[in-house]
Amino acid sequence: MAGNLKGRHFLRLLDFTPGEVRDLLELSATLKRNKRAGVSGRALEGKNIALIFEKPSTRTRCAFTVAAVDEGAHAEYLGKGDIQLGKKETVADTARVLGRMFDGIQYRGFAHRTVEILAEYAGVPVWNGLTDEWHPTQVLADLLTVMEEFGRLEGLALAYVGDGRNNMANSLMVGCAKVGMDVRIVAPANLHPAPELVETAREIAAGTGGKVTVTDSVEEGVRGAHAVYTDVWASMGEESKIEERIALLEPYRVTEAMMEATGRREAIFLHCLPSFHNLETELSQRYPKIREVEDAVFEGPRSRVFDEAENRVHTIKAVMVATLGR
Ligand code: CP
Ligand code: NVA
Repeated sequence: MAGNLKGRHFLRLLDFTPGEVRDLLELSATLKRNKRAGVSGRALEGKNIALIFEKPSTRTRCAFTVAAVDEGAHAEYLGKGDIQLGKKETVADTARVLGRMFDGIQYRGFAHRTVEILAEYAGVPVWNGLTDEWHPTQVLADLLTVMEEFGRLEGLALAYVGDGRNNMANSLMVGCAKVGMDVRIVAPANLHPAPELVETAREIAAGTGGKVTVTDSVEEGVRGAHAVYTDVWASMGEESKIEERIALLEPYRVTEAMMEATGRREAIFLHCLPSFHNLETELSQRYPKIREVEDAVFEGPRSRVFDEAENRVHTIKAVMVATLGR
């Protein structure tokens, strides 16, 4: 039961059993229904939540803030440059100070080790809002979106197409394996996930009826997929690699033809966002080929990206309520 997660950190889906992941999704669905029905929760009443962001964020920051306020907590944003973290004060010391004042801490940043040190020293639940390696709260929102669309998860195929070794590819591979899905990482050979992680995901899938495939073939990867997922080609902190990634990943841009190649009329398109899908951002004007998805797909009838974005609130709320709530 999600009720057994009290006091736990939420750093990677690898740390949770398939049953615990399911329970978090069930709780997310319940909290979403309640919010839609106007029923407000009080599970976090009187709690103080610290939100540490070393990288920018729209969805994660707002989802943590809204979810905290919805359940009666106060959220304090600590942005890049606001606190000493690692600069004039060690991460461990910062963790011990914040842990004396706050009841829970969210961290978004670079090295995954930083969120692990926070968790080791804080003495309160620490939630990973994205590191270079993992983005676990995003995957809960993705799975909830797929569940809402198809009424189930097990046996469904999800093709993640693009940079196959980033935080989203890693997290989707593990998350989909945990819930018995057929996950395909579709990427050029030099952007494949670490072999040890693929092995671990395959071991998980062996116990859940899921399947893990890594391929450079778009045709093989998307055939039969219920969902096609992509992410930016250069993640936060990788801006110097943009041109190199465009050269490698142009054949992996999600197009209407790729959606057709799933062979499923019901196939949906997913993206964690933010996305380059038109020329209306500064970066896509500077690099017009940076687009990982065609505008026609992003704006088209198969796209569920804004449902997915909304689901960040409900799933993040579930994580906070399960680990910290009364
Ligand atoms: N998907 C996601 O994490 O979005 P933000 O970077 O806006 O938080
Ligand atoms: N891979 C992306 C995800 C953004 C939500 C990044 O790390 O920038």
